[in-house]
Amino acid sequence: MRSPLIRGRRLRRTETLRRMVRETELRASDLILPLFVEPGKGVRRPVGSMPGVFNLSVDTAIDEAKRACDLGIPAVILFGIPDSKDAAGSRGHADDGIVPTALRALREAVPEMVLVADVCLCEYTDHGHCGILRDGDVDNDATVPLLAKAAVAYAKAGADIVAPSDMMDGRVGAIRHALDESGLTATAIMSYSAKFASAFYGPFRDAAQSTPQSGDRRGYQMDPANGREAMRMVRRDLAEGADVVMVKPALPYLDVIRRVSDEVDVPVAAYCVSGEFTMIEAAARNGWIDGPRATMEALVSIKRAGADLIVTYHALEAAKALADFR
Ligand code: PBG
Repeated sequence: MRSPLIRGRRLRRTETLRRMVRETELRASDLILPLFVEPGKGVRRPVGSMPGVFNLSVDTAIDEAKRACDLGIPAVILFGIPDSKDAAGSRGHADDGIVPTALRALREAVPEMVLVADVCLCEYTDHGHCGILRDGDVDNDATVPLLAKAAVAYAKAGADIVAPSDMMDGRVGAIRHALDESGLTATAIMSYSAKFASAFYGPFRDAAQSTPQSGDRRGYQMDPANGREAMRMVRRDLAEGADVVMVKPALPYLDVIRRVSDEVDVPVAAYCVSGEFTMIEAAARNGWIDGPRATMEALVSIKRAGADLIVTYHALEAAKALADFR
């Protein structure tokens, strides 16, 4: 046998060589940490289906955000669990609601941190859908003004970025308009543009207590089979004024992330969702896979696919691993 001309192994021989030729580098500054905030004090309630994730009160959320900040994580994204729910999700846009309260406290306690506020009705409606219902269906055009109202309330309370995850048509444009009308021209919009109707959201709904009481979200979230439609939604959201576009979930949709990042000239975010987190944690806790290694491999894959920003429940763990490596 002639000596192979191309020997990939030459550059894989030592850790230093591998590091030198590594194409993709995950950084703590790529990560966004989700926080679930609820009323109360000193709350740190484990989410049953998400080991290591907690429902927090404002004070403990501040501790968690400080921890993230110290590890070089630039941003948190807030989800609110309100004191009460109703058909219209009215606690979602109240100025004294849980998310505005948390935003004001975080703004003061960790001024340098980027604060992202998820905008959706599902945590605030008693029926668990992402908008208000009419004849058993989510009423798109009646929901959009409520989302815009929530976005304005969050921006006023200190959010740097509002992130609509509801999947109503026209919400990005309506939110941009409402923010600008209120003089909040500096608030950015990160749109969940390609959000698929996914089985991987299960554990989140456990944490946010937002499982729909009837039906499902397939009438407004995207069909997992559709990549071309994802591009259309991304272009639409950019035309309506989105500053960052998101693909969600991440790992089953790496092809969509690649397509989006090839086409657009704005930052692309990917949300590695609760079920993706839980799969790794469950297998690791059974001793079936190496959890920390699987986590870093998953995150670097999402980055390699083209994501600039990654929302992940593994943010603290990953940032710690990146810091230890240095
Ligand atoms: C709310 C929302 C969901 C997630 C983020 N925002 C749930 C859903 O659409 O049912 C899911 C996040 C996750 O699973 O980690 N609309």
